[in-house]
Amino acid sequence: MDMKKIIESEKKFIMPTYSRHGIAIESGKGCCLFDSDGKKYIDLAGGLATCSIGHGNLEFADALRAQIGKVTNPTNLYYTEEQVKLAEKISGLSGLDKCFFSNSGAESIEAAIKLARKRAKKKNAETTGKIGIIAARNSFHGRTFGSLAATGKEKIRDPFRPMLGGFSHVEYDNAEAVENAITDETAAVIVEPIQGEAGIIVPEEDYLKSLREICDRHGLLLILDEIQTGCGRTGRFFAYEHSKIKPDIVTLAKGLANGIPIGVTVARDEIALSFEKGDHGSTFGGNPVVCRAANFTVEFIMKNKLMGNATANGDYFINKLKSIKSNTIKEVRGKGLMIGIELNVKGAEIVKKCLEKKLLINCTNENVLRLLPPLIIDKQTIDTAFEVLKEVLEDEN
Ligand SMILES: Cc1ncc(COP(=O)(O)O)c(C=O)c1O
Repeated sequence: MDMKKIIESEKKFIMPTYSRHGIAIESGKGCCLFDSDGKKYIDLAGGLATCSIGHGNLEFADALRAQIGKVTNPTNLYYTEEQVKLAEKISGLSGLDKCFFSNSGAESIEAAIKLARKRAKKKNAETTGKIGIIAARNSFHGRTFGSLAATGKEKIRDPFRPMLGGFSHVEYDNAEAVENAITDETAAVIVEPIQGEAGIIVPEEDYLKSLREICDRHGLLLILDEIQTGCGRTGRFFAYEHSKIKPDIVTLAKGLANGIPIGVTVARDEIALSFEKGDHGSTFGGNPVVCRAANFTVEFIMKNKLMGNATANGDYFINKLKSIKSNTIKEVRGKGLMIGIELNVKGAEIVKKCLEKKLLINCTNENVLRLLPPLIIDKQTIDTAFEVLKEVLEDEN
């Protein structure tokens, strides 16, 4: 199908929920994507942080092909080796105990919310149980009803009211605001270690530590949404490792299986065991194909020291970006390969100009250019991408 036909068919047959850029992607290799006319682009959107080990990795393809040839989804009626191998890996990396596998970020949040409620009911069996969860303003946790209720963006929530009850939202990066919002009903606090969709908002260094301390003092669960920050993106497998704390529940998705849909909710034993047979489930969750993809991805990240690469090349990129002299730029910030360029203007036009120069970037919160390249990105690719960004942003002056 040629590009024009693909774009026409999308309009005709697909619900209009996405604002797409005017190209159709055919294939990828490493940090590059190719459109259906064969044009090559440097991809700094990185499948929105899903493509950790890059596009078109043939070893990855071989591993998946072999698994597909064996069995795809015997379902959770039975045990599979790939699933327990992955759970053991994630348990070890997180310092927590047990996993529940689902198929997306939002679903991993749903499981975390259900777990928090179930655990509260168990603890206070004679009461109705605590159901309150404190979340942050401008946060993004997903678009299903539970994760939407946790999400702190009115624009996303408003069209779908009434929301699931029990959620309150306070200022991000303000631990005192969390403490002031605690009531007798509060069961948990949920935050992103760095807010992604809000525009790469990096909190003060002691924020997570303060939240941990508050949760401990009040007997609350600390739930960290590492769907965007996790899997090595910030230079550690979990961003909370930078703060030397551990959550009670953590969620992962995006980068875990290099673009194959997965979600995982990980919890301490005492919490995880609140779930009893039949409390939660997923037909596709943790199937051996996606678990093979995730096992391969995590092993690849470790073997190729991609977390070190995220730190070194992330710092390199951020420092270069900071050298751009443009009145359009308000701030450059980020950690590892999770980078935001906040603008004084809306970013859509910049994204379009970069695309014309064969550079793919994303814009979030209307005025923050968001860069989430594959963790394999090298300095040479960064230099080429930087020259485009510099030219486009300096042109705006
Ligand atoms: C921090 C965070 N939580 C949750 C989600 C939702 O994930 P999904 O789109 O896989 O449902 C996202 C997606 O952008 C995210 O960045």
